Amino acid sequence: MTGQSPVLRLEGIVKTFPGVRALDGVSLSILPGEVHALMGENGAGKSTLMKVLGGIHQPDEGTIYVGEEPVVMSGPLEAKAKGIMFIHQELSLAGELSVAENIYLGELPRKRFGLVDWVDLERKTNDSLSRLKVGFNARTRVGDLSIANQQMVEIARALTVDAKAVIFDEPTASLTDAEKVVLFEVIADLQSQGVGIAYISHRMEEIFRITDRISVLRDGQYRGTVNTSETDEESVTQMMIGRKLDLSRLASHHELGDVALEVRGLCCGDLFEDVSFSVRSGEVVGFYGLVGAGRTEIAETLFGLREPSAGTILLNGEELRIASPADAIARGISLVPEDRKTQGLVLGMNCRDNMTLPQISDLKAGPFVAEGAEVAIFDQYRDKLDIRTPGWKQMVGNLSGGNQQKIVIAKWLSMHPNVLIVDEPTRGIDVGSKSEIHNLIRDLAAHGYAVIVISSEMPEVLHVSDRIVAMYSGRVMRTFTSEEVTEDTLIQAISGLTPGQAA
Ligand SMILES: Nc1ncnc2c1ncn2[C@@H]1O[C@H](COP(=O)(O)OP(=O)(O)OP(=O)(O)O)[C@@H](O)[C@H]1O
Ligand SMILES: [Mg+2]
Repeated sequence: MTGQSPVLRLEGIVKTFPGVRALDGVSLSILPGEVHALMGENGAGKSTLMKVLGGIHQPDEGTIYVGEEPVVMSGPLEAKAKGIMFIHQELSLAGELSVAENIYLGELPRKRFGLVDWVDLERKTNDSLSRLKVGFNARTRVGDLSIANQQMVEIARALTVDAKAVIFDEPTASLTDAEKVVLFEVIADLQSQGVGIAYISHRMEEIFRITDRISVLRDGQYRGTVNTSETDEESVTQMMIGRKLDLSRLASHHELGDVALEVRGLCCGDLFEDVSFSVRSGEVVGFYGLVGAGRTEIAETLFGLREPSAGTILLNGEELRIASPADAIARGISLVPEDRKTQGLVLGMNCRDNMTLPQISDLKAGPFVAEGAEVAIFDQYRDKLDIRTPGWKQMVGNLSGGNQQKIVIAKWLSMHPNVLIVDEPTRGIDVGSKSEIHNLIRDLAAHGYAVIVISSEMPEVLHVSDRIVAMYSGRVMRTFTSEEVTEDTLIQAISGLTPGQAA
């Protein structure tokens, strides 16, 4: 690849926000036909850099070159006109509009008299959708799609133009394995057409599978670029966080308490069936399975968001009816949801208020909320989870993706629940903070909490769980202890290959 001139080049890019120097003189180039990974801790500046490229932010200093030509990207449509497409980390689609309208937002094809050419619109849209092998079409309302499919819409949009460069900001965070395979095929396809690709992800296995070069940012500064084939996870981590990662501290083995939560024969329509399991206080139970196996739905039922059609839930031996999240919270059951953007956070509200939202009534001193108490909670969890923000007044929407996730976790932790359910706790979290969150989950168990961890990442479930419930298609296939589980048996169980051995 040497000797080729870059499709895109950034030189000395500086971008500041109030209280944050998000980019501090970053220079980087992307070659035609390469997949160029951008890595760094949560808040390192990756998304900001890509937003500068995509015309969403204007840099304070520095120059962007497309080919040899210095350009000013005044907005996303201009970036698109220059052949730069951007697939966002935080989805930015209009839920009320159709897939086709979203893809061509701001530039719908017109007929004479300015009428929208719907036939052309649908044909073009379905063309790019067919490359992605998705099960929806141009007319589907975006709000009716799963997050993964919304992600596919963003990707389809990138395929509608002759792109010179495509930027993927954590595209796989909510995709299933099958969807990932399709995405990687699309990327390989673009690559073979000479398109330069910038790829942001916290998942090392992906980085080493599909990228050619890796550039690292730390605290807004450029730390260097390496060839993927000439480096390894450890060196990249070291570049990202400036130290070696200690993965040894975990599995605080302690006495388990009584059964805190027990579920018997729980059913919910055709979402899941005859689910039975228990969690003792001091225990971490991992739920592993493919996307769609019913794990999130079970969590939602325990949290009062869905009504079970049959079965019993017992908390400390006492049968319980959970009609609403307020009921669940009152009984000490908390859920850290999978999709922080729609269920976990109020983006226009500041960090402190987001964190203390569920417990406002407890913190109220007379007619006023006790400000001091709230700030104290914020400070405590900011330190514990290493949340990067200039202060509690910052709007959550301005935090980096991973730091938003940490606010969601802090929000539910600070309520000291008896039973804590976390759904995909480390999605979008960098390697360093990931191990912090794993340690935190183990610590919570050591303090007597009963914890349920739902995860699609096998290393994560294997790492944090005392027992693992393997699910397939709405059923519990098998429950493993951490001593007996192996990767192979676990994969068999979640593929539906093990005959029903419900625990
Ligand atoms: N619109 C904004 N207003 C204020 N601060 C912002 C804004 N956008 C980003 N920041 C800050 O800039 C820094 C870099 O954020 P950025 O989103 O680029 O991080 P990132 O590397 O993409 O992290 P992650 O891996 O968590 O997605 C963070 O401190 C973030 O809070
Ligand atoms: Mg980001």
